[in-house]
Amino acid sequence: MTPPPDFTPTGRNSSVPTFFMILTNEKQTINYGKTLSQSLQGGDVLCLHGNLGTGKTTLTKGIARGLKIKEEITSPTFTLMQLYKIKNSNTKIKNFIHIDTYRLKDEQELIDIGALDYLGETDTICVIEWPEKIKKLLQNKKVVNIFIEHSPKGRKIKLEK
Ligand SMILES: Nc1ncnc2c1ncn2[C@@H]1O[C@H](COP(=O)(O)OP(=O)(O)OP(=O)(O)O)[C@@H](O)[C@H]1O
Ligand SMILES: [Mg+2]
Repeated sequence: MTPPPDFTPTGRNSSVPTFFMILTNEKQTINYGKTLSQSLQGGDVLCLHGNLGTGKTTLTKGIARGLKIKEEITSPTFTLMQLYKIKNSNTKIKNFIHIDTYRLKDEQELIDIGALDYLGETDTICVIEWPEKIKKLLQNKKVVNIFIEHSPKGRKIKLEK
């Protein structure tokens, strides 16, 4: 995944390049998700880090819209995982998975509902809210870390590859 061009590079001395930008309202978060979706590849696992209400689901909605998913993206807090099929895609990406581990008991619970059939698979893009809880399942996956935090101007979003 390549970072979008409008991101400001930071942390140049780090071995992990990071990029940030300010999103001043919900629409910008959605639009950023749309832009981001264009640089995603099958197998990418987007880990959305951020406190309650920072905009993780909003960003997911933008990504889904960019992937031409017509269904409304709802927060999977109670279902843990939502699968959206990508139809008529010119790419080999067929599935979009949205996982929210906020109420997850343990990693096994996610395994039991079939998450491993999708997580990191080459025909699937996966977005995870609260990824800290399932670190073990993310080993050896193509993880992109995205950090969202409140800022006086709205939200600050940081992308780490
Ligand atoms: N850039 C932004 N500036 C201001 N408000 C925003 C921005 N992006 C999203 N929001 C608003 O933040 C609120 C919370 O958004 P959202 O539900 O996406 O957060 P979340 O991180 O998924 O929350 P949770 O931790 O409960 O899952 C919404 O009211 C949304 O409109
Ligand atoms: Mg959410």
